Amino acid sequence: MMHISFFLLVIITGGVSCKVCSYQDVLDYLNMTVDTSVFKLTRPVLDHTHTTAVKTDLILYAILSVVEKTQTFVPFVWVTVQWKDERISWDPAQFCGITEISVPKGILWRPDLFIYEMVEKDDSPQNPYILVTHDGTVYFDEDMRVISTCKMDVHKFPFDTQECSLSIGSAIHCVKEIRIFPFSNSSRATQFSREVMKTQGEWEFLKMSVESSNISLYDRRWELLVYKVTIKRRPLLHVINFLLPILFFLILDLASFFIADHRGEKLGFKVTVLLAISVLLLILNDILPSMSNRTPLIATYCIVIFALMLLSLLETILVTYLIDKDSEDELSLCDSGEEKNKQMKTKDCSTGIKKQNGCSYKVCESEKKHELLTVDDEVNYSSHSRDTNALQLILDEQKKLQNMMHRHFGPRAERYYTMQSSAPKRR
Ligand SMILES: *[C@@H]1O[C@H](CO)[C@@H](O)[C@H](O)[C@H]1NC(C)=O
Ligand SMILES: *[C@@H]1O[C@H](CO)[C@@H](O)[C@H](O)[C@H]1NC(C)=O
Ligand SMILES: *[C@@H]1O[C@H](CO)[C@@H](O)[C@H](O)[C@H]1NC(C)=O
Repeated sequence: MMHISFFLLVIITGGVSCKVCSYQDVLDYLNMTVDTSVFKLTRPVLDHTHTTAVKTDLILYAILSVVEKTQTFVPFVWVTVQWKDERISWDPAQFCGITEISVPKGILWRPDLFIYEMVEKDDSPQNPYILVTHDGTVYFDEDMRVISTCKMDVHKFPFDTQECSLSIGSAIHCVKEIRIFPFSNSSRATQFSREVMKTQGEWEFLKMSVESSNISLYDRRWELLVYKVTIKRRPLLHVINFLLPILFFLILDLASFFIADHRGEKLGFKVTVLLAISVLLLILNDILPSMSNRTPLIATYCIVIFALMLLSLLETILVTYLIDKDSEDELSLCDSGEEKNKQMKTKDCSTGIKKQNGCSYKVCESEKKHELLTVDDEVNYSSHSRDTNALQLILDEQKKLQNMMHRHFGPRAERYYTMQSSAPKRR
């Protein structure tokens, strides 16, 4: 652009004066080509009591990441810094109207500004030039990826709003040497950031406020500019990913009370649901920082649901145990009933059939009308009793045979016979 205006100037003035100016002439006039190191040596004031007024502007261009676990806030910002170098001035009229030149940023003094919260050096590409105007005002622009610490309160996670500060101040120049002022006020900064903001992922940018503050240390005071960025989390993902599934698991767990079951399937189901919740809790553990002061509400939510499910699991275990114990008692009652039947002819199990074990079982079962035993069990029992009947008959028959053998052939033959008959007996 400078070139175009320069050529225009040449065309307008035509062959009348033929004055040609270059940036080099300006630099020569300023003595910047002779010894460049002079300009970066000290603070650019002619009287040492003058303070250098530094105006800065910080614009939020993107929110790259917010990590609650490590309490890190990573925005991408544009920082504009402006100050006055009292050693530099020229008359644009003498140099064909050149009002500003850009010079390598290494040759001039720059305020030693830094961001207090920044915890890691930035390695994004740097702008190599700074702009100098004819009245000595110097402009300096920088894009930075700021990896900053930010104290985050996750009490209301995932419906939380965070406020992170970026404080800009001078490292060694105290308030008598460098004063820092904001270019734009809070509303302007917010509006401008909204206009340029490119990425808005999980976080929604709400506002940015700027205020000035002083800090003192060792009898010296530094001025700094605090930009407070307020961002709000978009909770939808966490609600879908986390809150709802946990609620669904709780509903599933409650619904499992309706599973009619006496084989431990209900127990297995409940344990599975509890394990699923534990997996979700592990995810939560990755997100939330371990904070001691205030427990996040979501942790309370999880713990309450977990506890409810644990209680229901314990209840199921208890009920299963009681049912098992109950049915065991009844079985043993029936077992002992057989023997006792002979002595005490009680009401329930003392019907006619006593000798055949199986029948007495059957009578006992049918009379007691055991609720827990299904039809399958009854079938099992009756078939079982039929088998024992048959076995009993075989046994009786065998004993008779044995006696006969003993009487007729003596002990040797008997032994032979038992060896032969033991095989089918075992079957
Ligand atoms: C440049 O240096 C010359 C000689 O040392 C001096 O006369 C002149 O004033 C200097 N120019 C500026 C702008 O300081
Ligand atoms: C902020 O600055 C703008 C102009 O840059 C101005 O119009 C507005 O009134 C200012 N707001 C406040 C609160 O000072
Ligand atoms: C910081 O100190 C300067 C110089 O003494 C003073 O003008 C300014 O008001 C102070 N700022 C605050 C926020 O106290």
